Amino acid sequence: MKKAKIVLLILLSAIMIFAAGCAKKVEKHDIDEYRQNMEYKEGFKIMMLTDVHISMLTNLDELTKYLTHNINEAKPDLIVLNGDNFFEATKAEVDFYFSFIDSFKINWVFIQGNHDHQGVYEYTYPDEVVSKMEYSLNVDYPNDGIDGTQNFHVDLMKGDDLVYRLFMIDGGSYLRLNPIQYTYNQISDSQLAHIEKIQAEEDDDDYTSLAFFHIPLKEYKDAYEGYQEGKYEGKGTNREPSCPSVFESDQFERLKNAGIRGTFCGHDHINNAVVDYEGVILGYGVKSTREIYHDDDILGYCLITLTSEEFGLDNISSVYVDYGKVVGGN
Ligand SMILES: [Fe+2]
Repeated sequence: MKKAKIVLLILLSAIMIFAAGCAKKVEKHDIDEYRQNMEYKEGFKIMMLTDVHISMLTNLDELTKYLTHNINEAKPDLIVLNGDNFFEATKAEVDFYFSFIDSFKINWVFIQGNHDHQGVYEYTYPDEVVSKMEYSLNVDYPNDGIDGTQNFHVDLMKGDDLVYRLFMIDGGSYLRLNPIQYTYNQISDSQLAHIEKIQAEEDDDDYTSLAFFHIPLKEYKDAYEGYQEGKYEGKGTNREPSCPSVFESDQFERLKNAGIRGTFCGHDHINNAVVDYEGVILGYGVKSTREIYHDDDILGYCLITLTSEEFGLDNISSVYVDYGKVVGGN
């Protein structure tokens, strides 16, 4: 009996040593390694596409004709693919779509939504493809101890001056609510701490910070209700309730205290309200294709135009194009 116990202890020790050896070592990176620079110009245009939802059933010819029309019309300086680009897609479709976006020779970024990893590929496949694209600005360090695969920022520079800082954040997909239910994920503590550190170490104090992520903050609901009651300024319409994580979070307060003055998300396909809430613009980007549920009259892209004036509601507009007309006529 005693001998059996000793053997068991030796076995357990061996397993623990093996497990410790297998654990990924956290690799620290300097905050400059998360930064991408672009030249700022007055009227810099960010085109945000959300919830494209390419699947195995998608008519890629129709979809790319529509997006080509919109990208050529918007003439953006930067394209933000803000989540749910894919849902039940294959590797070939991921390859095709990212190569299509890259073919415009415009800088672009990819942000994970809650569905992008639900395809016929491993979780990180979209990130691997993005990393090979010529015009993508994505930066990812898988073992840096920060949750998510997008924790980088794009600094818009005028000479040596920082004019705008654009944070790209992977807000995750799902969190277990109880043994049988899940809720949506949210920006994690490690990601918020990363943003706070970047902002705290910035010498320049005369710039505007914006953040892009897929799933809205819970404050989007309060903001829209306040807008409907005339308490807050805003525009647009929400046709479905906001669907953030049900967990309590201090995401909004921490982003606001870190100097974020505008957040842009997708996720809720028939919402396009933009509300000035407690000094932060909380904006929905309009759904960008007809895949799965949508309303044809709020479909297109979100165009965020930046000027050197204070960032505000007037800098944001959404433009909608008739899908059928474009597909049929071009
Ligand atoms: Fe979606």
